[in-house]
Amino acid sequence: MIQKPVAIEKPQGKLGVLLVGLGAVSTTFVAGVAACRRKIGRPFGSLTQMGTIRLGKRKDHKSPPVKDFVPLTSLEDLTFGAWDVFPDNAYDAALKAGVLEKPLLDSLKEELTTLQPWPAAFDKNYVRKLDGTHTKKGSTKWDLAQQITEDIHRFKETSRANRLNMIWCASTEAFLSPHSVHGSIESFEKGLKNNDPAIAPSMIYAYAALKLGIPFSNGAPNLTVDIPAMQQLAAETHTPLSGKDFKTGQTLMKTIIAPGLRARLLGIHGWFSSNILGNRDGEVLDDPENFKTKEESKLSVLDTILQPELQPELYGELYHKVRINYYPPRGDNKESWDNIDIFGWLDYPMQLKINFLCRDSILAAPIVLDLVLFMDLAKRAGLKGIQEWLSFFYKSPMVAEGLYPEHNLFVQQTKLKNTLRHLMGEEPITHLELEYNE
Ligand SMILES: NC(=O)c1ccc[n+]([C@@H]2O[C@H](COP(=O)([O-])OP(=O)(O)OC[C@H]3O[C@@H](n4cnc5c(N)ncnc54)[C@H](O)[C@@H]3O)[C@@H](O)[C@H]2O)c1
Repeated sequence: MIQKPVAIEKPQGKLGVLLVGLGAVSTTFVAGVAACRRKIGRPFGSLTQMGTIRLGKRKDHKSPPVKDFVPLTSLEDLTFGAWDVFPDNAYDAALKAGVLEKPLLDSLKEELTTLQPWPAAFDKNYVRKLDGTHTKKGSTKWDLAQQITEDIHRFKETSRANRLNMIWCASTEAFLSPHSVHGSIESFEKGLKNNDPAIAPSMIYAYAALKLGIPFSNGAPNLTVDIPAMQQLAAETHTPLSGKDFKTGQTLMKTIIAPGLRARLLGIHGWFSSNILGNRDGEVLDDPENFKTKEESKLSVLDTILQPELQPELYGELYHKVRINYYPPRGDNKESWDNIDIFGWLDYPMQLKINFLCRDSILAAPIVLDLVLFMDLAKRAGLKGIQEWLSFFYKSPMVAEGLYPEHNLFVQQTKLKNTLRHLMGEEPITHLELEYNE
């Protein structure tokens, strides 16, 4: 039975994208959108721009582009604001990040130089490797939250944006465990006023956004919105949130390969993953406290794909190790090596080696675009709280309490597309299709 479509407000006017952090990922995203608008670049890797979605039966041959099926904001209607601890505009920051080539950046220079970051809410205790000077002064974290709110109001007015959307593309923060101050909106607000050390800068931005009903996405593995205070606030203000840690590079490959091995019941003794990376992200992750946050996110993916508790003979002994090594000569062009010790029929061992020479920000930029557009869709569709259907884009998907996250990329894709079908009143696709063989 086909259900009724969900009422979705039309994407009228401009969508203002609030980027926390104007580093490699953000500048590659902004420059990429500008290049696509001018038709001097193509949005490969983006589901909203390139994806199609099958509707109905296979014999119907109906697979419209995603962007024609759901009402998304067009690239023409995006406008950008950002915060960073360095004052460089998007052109200078992009040149420093070294991802995109200078001739391309020069052709977009006019647009990029106008994106000048506002001073950041920053705390060196959370990112020891950065010495930014372009920071907000405030005697309490509450003051900083108010200053961020003022930035947002000012941006909305000057950009004439109709709607806003915030996404964390700033550095990975030092590891933080949930704490009593995170337990409710009241304790959190009290903590802001008391400068509680367990409130990270990312939480101050997220608080300001959620309070104003602005969707928040978390591109880093930081705790940020994974706490009751933020989830209560999102429910109260009817705001979608999603996270965490963009799924790119080595982890993307892991969530493509591991489901295949699991499906064919091939065992795994060990999975050793090593990376070299030379950008600012790599430098920040060179600090063991910041690496710990990333490590937890990277390690978690195999568990729920392989389900060792259901298959102890195949995966019960698996040794999983992830290393990230800061190596400046490589810049953003990360190289990763995976050695996977597998075994099959009668325990016979085999090995799989993956050497991925990827470009981190080239993989992350389309994710930023898709998240911003889908989170805006979610808001207009009246969805609130954790948007699990966007797990497809994350290394550590957020889920409701008591659930385990789904890491398998193909299950995530099915969930995402079925959610879009559901929103538009189309049947979900189950691949059962018994009628063709009767
Ligand atoms: N590139 C990828 O493939 C990828 C994948 C997953 C997650 N991530 C995460 O995305 C984030 C961005 O990655 P990147 O390569 O652009 O890093 P980057 O270091 O180039 O950029 C991050 C920027 O954030 C700024 N910053 C730090 N703290 C801030 C604060 N409190 N407020 C405002 N700005 C702040 C830094 O000055 C820097 O310019 C990182 O956390 C990274 O771990 C990236």
